[in-house]
Amino acid sequence: MLFKAPKGTYDVLPERGEKWEFLEEAARSIFKIYGYRPIETPAFEATQLFARGIGEATDIVQKEMYTFADKGGRSITLRPEGTAPIVRAYIEHALGQRPQPVKLYYSGPMFRYERPQAGRYRQFYQLGVEAMGSDDPALDAEVILLLVEYFKSVGVKDMDVLLNSMGCPADRPKYVEALKAYAGTKLDAMCADCAKRFALNPLRLFDCKNPTCRDVISSAPKVIDYLCEECRDHFEEVRGYLDRIELAYKIEPKLVRGLDYYTRTTFEVQSRHLGAQNAIGGGGRYDGLSEELGGPKMPAIGFALGLERLQMAVEAESGTIPGDFELDVFVIAVDEGVKKDAFDLTLRFRREGLVAESDFLNRSVKGQIKAANRLGAKFAAFVGPEELSAGVCRIRNMATGVQEDVELEKAPEYLSDRVFEEYEERGEADG
Ligand code: HAM
Repeated sequence: MLFKAPKGTYDVLPERGEKWEFLEEAARSIFKIYGYRPIETPAFEATQLFARGIGEATDIVQKEMYTFADKGGRSITLRPEGTAPIVRAYIEHALGQRPQPVKLYYSGPMFRYERPQAGRYRQFYQLGVEAMGSDDPALDAEVILLLVEYFKSVGVKDMDVLLNSMGCPADRPKYVEALKAYAGTKLDAMCADCAKRFALNPLRLFDCKNPTCRDVISSAPKVIDYLCEECRDHFEEVRGYLDRIELAYKIEPKLVRGLDYYTRTTFEVQSRHLGAQNAIGGGGRYDGLSEELGGPKMPAIGFALGLERLQMAVEAESGTIPGDFELDVFVIAVDEGVKKDAFDLTLRFRREGLVAESDFLNRSVKGQIKAANRLGAKFAAFVGPEELSAGVCRIRNMATGVQEDVELEKAPEYLSDRVFEEYEERGEADG
């Protein structure tokens, strides 16, 4: 039997890995400009952290967690998301004592036992930020702007920003009552899961993917109509900031999102180029999560984006993502006797910053040229006994076939200039 990657997972081969690196590096650089610093938390946590943090009635906790007992009998869960772990770290390391808000970014794999489909996986890769320790509406606008600016910077243009406010815990009972009054009479038309949701946490009725249930819930009372004055003001201020920076958004009263920790602002960015799984990023405020986890009062907001979906959106819109591997030079040893000289020259090229490769399979000269071509080398550098005794190597431009003998001493610098000229011609001189 041949093994395959488990259902809902995939291997990231180099071509894709390079694109991901481009997307990740672009994210890191803009996150830093906005004042975020890196944090990493473990890939698994105590199950209770997610059960309490995300909410017992959510689909994630009810049916999507990878939970197991470790050899010490502890209940462990592979993280389905990054926010609860980061709040755990904030509490554990008393980050509240640092200047607030504490701004952190993270990336890594998340795990959810979902039904796999295009854009939905069981192990997927998120990039995210959390800004913790402030309830200032300006921060909400800044966080939403950061997500949108990042998407734009990597080539996503056709996107919709959806915005909602979930209000505060004091607003919840009134709203839940109204929702119950509405949905209570329609349960017969809804699925069995929704009947459970209705009993456990009616807000989760918004998560159902069943078309009939969605139809019913689309006319439900809107949480936004049940906000207290403070939450209304907060929402108005967030909108004021977004208008000020001319960030277009749509109010989406059904944007409750699949995690229980949200309070006030929630948002999601959808690509117009993807199918059902079109949410490329989303987030919101979670002003009560720290206290829920036994920590201090700590209002906070953040987002996470899915790298797989982002890649799909960028490729659908712009065709390609930069980051293809480019080999500057393949060093060819003309015979066995000069292998070590070729080895030395390869290292010298690399020390000059060139992407350099040589032969490790004792290929013939013809075989090495073929390998250089298959790898797309821009140049080949021939090292042979005659060249060596003349103190030169022969450098061939693989595209034009033009070749020159270049003093060995100066070869790295010479080649580096030639490669730089190529980049310049393509308008990528800083690459
Ligand atoms: P989320 O909406 O569950 O939020 O996930 C964020 C993003 O991760 C989604 O918009 C989507 O792009 C991607 N994603 C989610 N599930 C999958 C999946 N099964 N396969 C592929 N991509 C997926 C959160 O996780 C919150 N922690 C975000 C947040 C941060 N809220 C506040 N701070």
